[in-house]
Amino acid sequence: MIKKVFMRLIYFVKNDVRYFFKKINSMFRNKIDQYQRAKLQLEDAKIQIDPELERKIDNKELPILSLKNVTITFGSGKKVFKAVDDVSLDIYKGETFSLVGESGSGKTTIGKAIVRINPLTSGEIIYKGRRISGKLSKYEDRFVIRNIQMIFQDPAASLNERATIDYIVSEGIYNFKLYENEKERVRKTEEALISVGLLPEHLTRYPHEFSGGQRQRIGIARSIIMEPQFIVADEPISALDVSIRAQVLNLLKKFQIERGITYLFIAHDLSVVRFISDRIGVIYKGKIVELAESEELFSYPLHPYTISLMSAIPIPDPILEKNKKLIVYDPSIHDYSEEKPRLREIRKGHFILANSKEFIEYQKKLESINTNQA
Ligand SMILES: Nc1ncnc2c1ncn2[C@@H]1O[C@H](COP(=O)(O)OP(=O)(O)OP(=O)(O)O)[C@@H](O)[C@H]1O
Ligand SMILES: [Mg+2]
Repeated sequence: MIKKVFMRLIYFVKNDVRYFFKKINSMFRNKIDQYQRAKLQLEDAKIQIDPELERKIDNKELPILSLKNVTITFGSGKKVFKAVDDVSLDIYKGETFSLVGESGSGKTTIGKAIVRINPLTSGEIIYKGRRISGKLSKYEDRFVIRNIQMIFQDPAASLNERATIDYIVSEGIYNFKLYENEKERVRKTEEALISVGLLPEHLTRYPHEFSGGQRQRIGIARSIIMEPQFIVADEPISALDVSIRAQVLNLLKKFQIERGITYLFIAHDLSVVRFISDRIGVIYKGKIVELAESEELFSYPLHPYTISLMSAIPIPDPILEKNKKLIVYDPSIHDYSEEKPRLREIRKGHFILANSKEFIEYQKKLESINTNQA
């Protein structure tokens, strides 16, 4: 009996204490938020981008993001595996740069290196003139998260199953205190959800209650709520039904026009990227083999791997499609025993991986395509 009364007492005291702290928490939540926001703003102010540099980036005179000789390896000792091999590329503000290559070619590894999930083995990544790879201070790290977001390839694995959509979508703005008060946080979260075609009532639900396509949109909402300037979109439409692929692509395009976002768009086949990309980099086994403006690449594909990817594009004519010959790329055709290849500019903005001998052959090929078209 005494034990029962005692337990009751404990129960009430415990509840009271909990209630008391909850009350204190809600009373001070705004104050704590305000304090944290001010602290974050002070730290953010430590990163100043030179206005002259900003102007040059806006005018596309300088790239917004550059990869310089990036190499990424996994494993160690005898088992070391080079997933990305000496990749250098520049991406300019407001453009859609697509990275295309077969499964395992290192596309996601590059994307994850940009958002600092994968460390580099060598090389560096520069964003707005600042190195963002390697060891960074806490506020530099936050600068990267605020500016660069990634839409992950696998919507089934990239959402926290135990968190509500509200938590998942607003986690970023919560961590950075990118709102003035709770009302604004809710408004921003709802707006992000609506902008990707979902509904505010979805906020209290959990990821498993959504289809693959909806989960992909949740991933997009989570990225765009941060109002990033740069988005790594890793196969954002591969998991979607054909019918909603165009919707998601249009959505990404809309954000680009409205907010001047720059995209690194990752895909494994060329057909998807043709009409959405300004420039395309073709990657094979961790190496860029060809890089050019989208139309240039489709009109003058030179590298045999690019040509094999193009032969795989479906043709919307059943007879032509049936008679189409798939070209299989055989890397043993390159003889690099005497001279190693490097990325060379064959025509303005059109780069190809070749040694001197191959380069002359590619030049001849380019000329012959030109004369054939004339
Ligand atoms: N964390 C890791 N540990 C070990 N190996 C890895 C890791 N991440 C990637 N790899 C390996 O690096 C290579 C490149 O992988 P990555 O995921 O970048 O390919 P991908 O081009 O994105 O392919 P997909 O089109 O299938 O998504 C693969 O061989 C993969 O097995
Ligand atoms: Mg991938």
